[in-house]
Amino acid sequence: MLTQLQCPSCSSLLLDYKEKAHVVICRSCRTEFSAADGVICFVPSHRFTQLDNIDYDAHYSISNESSQQAFAGLKAVLGERLKDDYEVLLEIGAGTGGFTKGLLTNVKVGSAIVTDISSKMLAVCRKRVLADEHLADQVIFSTYSAVEDIFPACSVDCVIGSFVLHHILDYKGFLRTSYDLLRKDGSFIFAEPSYKFHYALVQSMSEVLETLVNEGELNAEHDLIRLGNWIHELHFNLKYVGDQEVLSDREDKHLFLREEVEQAAFDAGFDLVETIPYGDPEHIDYCLLSYLPQLDLSPGFLKRATGLFDLYHTRYFDLLEPADSVPAYAFFFKKRANLISRVFKHA
Ligand SMILES: C[S@@+](CC[C@H](N)C(=O)[O-])C[C@H]1O[C@@H](n2cnc3c(N)ncnc32)[C@H](O)[C@@H]1O
Ligand SMILES: [Zn+2]
Repeated sequence: MLTQLQCPSCSSLLLDYKEKAHVVICRSCRTEFSAADGVICFVPSHRFTQLDNIDYDAHYSISNESSQQAFAGLKAVLGERLKDDYEVLLEIGAGTGGFTKGLLTNVKVGSAIVTDISSKMLAVCRKRVLADEHLADQVIFSTYSAVEDIFPACSVDCVIGSFVLHHILDYKGFLRTSYDLLRKDGSFIFAEPSYKFHYALVQSMSEVLETLVNEGELNAEHDLIRLGNWIHELHFNLKYVGDQEVLSDREDKHLFLREEVEQAAFDAGFDLVETIPYGDPEHIDYCLLSYLPQLDLSPGFLKRATGLFDLYHTRYFDLLEPADSVPAYAFFFKKRANLISRVFKHA
């Protein structure tokens, strides 16, 4: 029996996992859900991620080691806020395990539900995680795209995600869902990209591009197009921030203004709402250096572009407050569910 999940069709908790038959069956309404590769599928196939179309691990250099680093990075900024153990932990948008492996080897769990919109990515994640055999009995892998009704209310101690909230179109709705599925004193922890940093990045890089175009370097056409497309993509997301209709077809849907997410967290009912800068304001170029290799630029062009960025960026980044001079935020919200907050929530 899968005690952590409920049937999305009838909300019954009577879900039987028939591992050998690769299905989950609801004993109440008899709906069957596929569970091939050890991944239970609740998300209908028309909901998908464009990331399925690339070799995600190669593109983003995901490995066990990078996963440990991703966990250590987030732990370093969150400190005690991210506990060493949870009874029930839910990860959203785990992908191929770029954060999961580090998370589950450093945090003790009674049980963990590891989710993503993509069953293909989760199958990779499952292999990576279950290489540690002791985790096999504690971890369930299930597709979830932030809208399926598969978690009982007040059943989870921590809902966590690494760079996934910005993929969820109605992230404010997901904050409300998270509040409902968390137990009292439960935590909501997500690391996500920040708007203001990326705004300054696009302005700096547009100037870099202009200089490179004017330099008219022969054989640089391919590099210029790639860099130009990347700037255009980022610029699009900045321009249409919050416009659900425009953003619905895009994989990356949001860059976050911390005040706006904090307000949405309060509106969802969270009592403790904190945003912690995630990144090194002294090394703004680190973020660029993590983006640019994905563009496959030639080494000479890459060196010239980063050199120009070093020259130009201060005029844009110096305008930011220190808390916004970082590429990402760690959002930490807590559900205390005291009487006053409940009264306000339902007023
Ligand atoms: C940038 S990747 C991060 C993956 C992983 N957390 C990591 O740190 O390596 C974003 C992930 O969100 C997933 N995703 C996209 N839309 C989603 C949705 N609506 N609900 C849940 N996950 C989603 C993608 O499949 C992808 O695995
Ligand atoms: Zn059912």
